[in-house]
Amino acid sequence: MDDVFETAATDARAVFLRDVLKGLSEARKTLPCQYFYDAAGSDLFEQITTLPEYYPTRTEIAILNAHAGEIAAALGEHVLLVEYGAGASTKTRILLEALPSPTGYVPIDVSEEFLLHTAQTLRTDYPDLPVHPVVGDFMIRFGLPSESKGRPVGFFPGSTIGNLSDEDILRFMSSARDLLGDGSQFVIGVDLRKDADMLVPAYDDAAGVTARFNLNLLTRINRELGADFDLSAFAHRAIWNDTASRIEMHLVSQRAQTVQIGGRTIPFEPGESIHTENSRKFSIDSLTPLFEQTGWNLNKQWLDERHYFAVLLLSAD
Ligand code: TRP
Repeated sequence: MDDVFETAATDARAVFLRDVLKGLSEARKTLPCQYFYDAAGSDLFEQITTLPEYYPTRTEIAILNAHAGEIAAALGEHVLLVEYGAGASTKTRILLEALPSPTGYVPIDVSEEFLLHTAQTLRTDYPDLPVHPVVGDFMIRFGLPSESKGRPVGFFPGSTIGNLSDEDILRFMSSARDLLGDGSQFVIGVDLRKDADMLVPAYDDAAGVTARFNLNLLTRINRELGADFDLSAFAHRAIWNDTASRIEMHLVSQRAQTVQIGGRTIPFEPGESIHTENSRKFSIDSLTPLFEQTGWNLNKQWLDERHYFAVLLLSAD
């Protein structure tokens, strides 16, 4: 068995190295965003969610709290809650407590340590609820754990959908449609378009937590791939791109420099950026065609008073 795990770990490292070198070889350098969430990154992200400038988490939680009864009534009985990118599961608890008779919870997350810790805390707090964690990237096809029972309902909070391109939304929603099946439902949190004055600080906070989160990607590459990024020579930038309706996260090289990774030398010009993440801000109307193309209908929507954020209920029928 040990051999199997070691091979898996070696493969994961090889895939990580390949993804990093691919992104850094492009004319406009990028790094794939799923690698943000190692143990340190997951912790930093939890800190982001409580920052005064970061409105999405508290707004979404307020919407879920205000409408939990109505959401639970729409979902019905015997729900198997399948959460994509589970994190700390704060929002999950609101749904689980409102649901009349949930049959199980399947949290999916790339951060193994974080996921298993969350699963354990939920088992302690809800001793009657079967919890079946799945470690992995939710963009890769997987099956529901064979022990899980009930009517699958997908849960994709945090506007993580805004971190995907249209192409990836289509791929993700159609594989969720296949996994969850006919008659299933999906609860999705979506961040809405608003003033840049409010958006930029949410991704570039005064305390510098988002900067540390973004830079942690380089720390992880140094540690896991033996690279030699000088962290003091890269700066975090959050830019509002109005045409694309997205906040872009960048790491900007502060001088001319080279970085060694896996036997390769990557050159950087002064001011050259690595584009690490997009956080798209939607209108609900712009999303419905993507949902419909993948077999999902928009049934209900709940918004906060200021229309910062929306929780959408989709069904596959
Ligand atoms: N889903 C979150 C969002 O788009 C992820 C996120 C928040 C994020 N802050 C970030 C990703 C900073 C990268 C960098 O709001």
